[in-house]
Amino acid sequence: MRSRDGLVRVAGLGEIPDPGRRTIELGDHIAVLFHVGGEYYCIDDVCTHDGGPLGHGSRDGFAIVCPRHGAKFDIRTGKALTMPATVDTPTHEVEVTEDGVFVRCEA
Ligand code: FES
Repeated sequence: MRSRDGLVRVAGLGEIPDPGRRTIELGDHIAVLFHVGGEYYCIDDVCTHDGGPLGHGSRDGFAIVCPRHGAKFDIRTGKALTMPATVDTPTHEVEVTEDGVFVRCEA
């Protein structure tokens, strides 16, 4: 479902526990929405090292650990924090309103 300005409603308020996460569809690709410390963050579900599914990784504070070879990414910025990843993963703008959690889908 797409709403105005390219924002897609991906969850209702309170649907994703804190801490928690949800894998979401954004256009033609998959992303991961994190709920941590009262805030929401969204990054692509793709490790830039070799395509590992970041949404399946363990979380260490604001870092997500790729389940394939252990690279860490900052879920707030998408920044690659450790080898073997050297390229940041894309982030997506999140907007929270009384109607739910919305993520911008650049189609
Ligand atoms: S695919 Fe993620 S660290 Fe290699």
